[in-house]
Amino acid sequence: MKVGFGCDHVAIELKNILMEHLKEKGYECVDYGTYDPNVKANYPEYGLKVAEAVMRGEVEKGVLICGTGIGISLAANKVPGIRAAVCSEPYSARLTVEHNNANIIAMGARVVGSELAKMIVDEFFDAKFQGGRHEMRVNMISDIEKKYGAEWHE
Ligand code: RB5
Repeated sequence: MKVGFGCDHVAIELKNILMEHLKEKGYECVDYGTYDPNVKANYPEYGLKVAEAVMRGEVEKGVLICGTGIGISLAANKVPGIRAAVCSEPYSARLTVEHNNANIIAMGARVVGSELAKMIVDEFFDAKFQGGRHEMRVNMISDIEKKYGAEWHE
């Protein structure tokens, strides 16, 4: 599976650790930045890059990291078809795939340590969407996007 990674300046070290971890497990990792910890980066830019890569099918799933994981996931979730979930423990990481069909996992580099972050991504990538009643609910999320998409800039 091809996975897109994005982060801001506070999360580069964790991003690199997780990319190495997933590469060792056979995943192809694409790094959309940022790259320099000494240059402050704005998290919406990297949330958007990875979300657009997922939306276009350049990568199948994404991993986003900022200080809390919140800002970067909020930005990614503005892209149609993106379901980015902030997770700080493995249980939610599994369930957000099984029930919400999440296509991006977000984490906070100031919230989780690297070993916990590895467990979180492992659960996320091992999990499978269960469909059924969950599919109808995920479709309801898409309906909200459709309802507001056209009028968003008015
Ligand atoms: C950067 O200081 C911080 O605001 C950012 O990494 C993130 O936590 C925002 O949600």
